[in-house]
Amino acid sequence: MRAHILAILAAPIVALPAAANAQEEGAGQAAYERHCIQCHDTDDEAVGTLQLGRTRGEELALLTERSDLTGEYIAAIVRNGLNAMPGFLPSELTAAQLDALVDYLTAASAASAASRATQAD
Ligand code: HEC
Repeated sequence: MRAHILAILAAPIVALPAAANAQEEGAGQAAYERHCIQCHDTDDEAVGTLQLGRTRGEELALLTERSDLTGEYIAAIVRNGLNAMPGFLPSELTAAQLDALVDYLTAASAASAASRATQAD
């Protein structure tokens, strides 16, 4: 009976490697939603968005729409923090998760810059 339950529990682990690529693609967004969005969301109560709007200007308030930040800069801020923003330790956000997060943010900013250029609202 016990071995039976273990076999059922172990089954999804065997399927993991096949899903690894898809998971990696989503890892940056997942890290953003887990660690950053509460302060960098679009709403009026997101302190990061508010503070960046005040100090950098409204058009630079939203992290996911920035195209002026390099991956190196983003990674340095994430590790060290900046004023009210806390730094993140490797135990909270691994190097691989940080890489995926930086890819996500720099890809999102490039895409949104492109869509701003074509939508022109
Ligand atoms: C507790 C709230 C909070 C969290 C969580 C947070 N930030 Fe921030 N972040 C801020 C604030 C506030 C600022 C503005 C700091 C300042 O300039 O005074 C900021 C600024 C930044 C900047 C600097 C932008 C610029 O124009 O110089 C980057 C990059 C950044 N955050 C990325 C992130 C990323 C990536 C995450 C998730 C790993 C994250 N932040 C999580 C609050 C937060």
